Amino acid sequence: MKTSEDAVSLSDVVKLYGNFVALKGISFRIPDGGKYALLGPNGAGKSTTLKLIAGLLKPDKGIVRVYGYDPANDLETKKIIGYLPEDATPYRNLSVRENLEYIAALRGIENAADRALEIMDALKLRDYERAKVAKLSRGNIQKLALALAIIHRPRLLLLDEPLNYLDIPTQEEVISMLSKIGNSMLVSTHIMAVAGRLTDNIIMISRGTLIWQGTFAKLKGMSSEGEPIEKVVARLMTDGQVV
Ligand SMILES: Nc1ncnc2c1ncn2[C@@H]1O[C@H](COP(=O)(O)OP(=O)(O)O)[C@@H](O)[C@H]1O
Ligand SMILES: [Mg+2]
Repeated sequence: MKTSEDAVSLSDVVKLYGNFVALKGISFRIPDGGKYALLGPNGAGKSTTLKLIAGLLKPDKGIVRVYGYDPANDLETKKIIGYLPEDATPYRNLSVRENLEYIAALRGIENAADRALEIMDALKLRDYERAKVAKLSRGNIQKLALALAIIHRPRLLLLDEPLNYLDIPTQEEVISMLSKIGNSMLVSTHIMAVAGRLTDNIIMISRGTLIWQGTFAKLKGMSSEGEPIEKVVARLMTDGQVV
C-alpha cells in the first residue's frame, strides 16, 4: 500500500517547545481502518503527537501526513479528521443540542438537526438536550465533546484520553459506541486497559521517543505466565528500549 493511502504517517517527526524537545524523531504509520492506541506515561508526548496529526501544531522537522495530505496546511483534512482534545470544552453558554446543531451547521452537514438527535441518542444525551453546558457534569461534558468530534463521520478519529472523567458504566457505553464506528482511530491513553478495549495495535512512547509498537496480542505474548500485561508495559517504558 502506498504511504499516501495510510490514514496517518509520521516520518522522523521532531517537535520543540522553546528549547525543550517534546518529540525526538518519531515515525509510525496507521493503515486505513487501523485502530491504534498511543500509550505512554504523562508527559510522553501523546497530546503533542495528536495535535500534530490534527494539524494544530507543525513539526519542527519531519513529515506528518493524513491520507496523503499535510494536516497543517491542507484544509481537506478538516473534513477527514475528528479530534477530541484533552479537556475539551464545548460552548458553555449553549445547550447540548445547540452545540451539536451549531457544529453540524459549521461543518456543512445536511439535516443538522436530525444528525444532532441521532448522535444524542447514540450517546444517551437526550435527557440533557436543553441543559446549558455550564450546568452539566464533567462526564456529560466529555460525552458531548466526543459527540462533537464524530458528528461529521470522520474517516480518522483522534481521541485524546477519551474516557477521562467518565464513570465505569459510561465508559462502557462510550467503548461500545466507538467500537461500532468503522473508521481509522488513534486513541491516546496512559491506561493499558483502555488501549486494549478500544484498539488492537499499540504505539508506545516515552519521553518523546517511540519505544515499542505491535499488536495487542504480541504484547500479551511478552508477559510471562500470570504476569499482568501492565508489568510488561512498565518494563518496556522504564528500559526505554528503542525498536
Ligand atoms: N505548550 C507547551 N509548552 C511547553 N511545554 C509543553 C507544552 N505542551 C507540552 N509540553 C511538554 O511537552 C511534553 C509532552 O507533553 P504532552 O504531549 O502533553 O504529553 P502527554 O500527552 O503524553 O502527557 C511534556 O513534558 C510537557 O510538559
Ligand atoms: Mg496528554
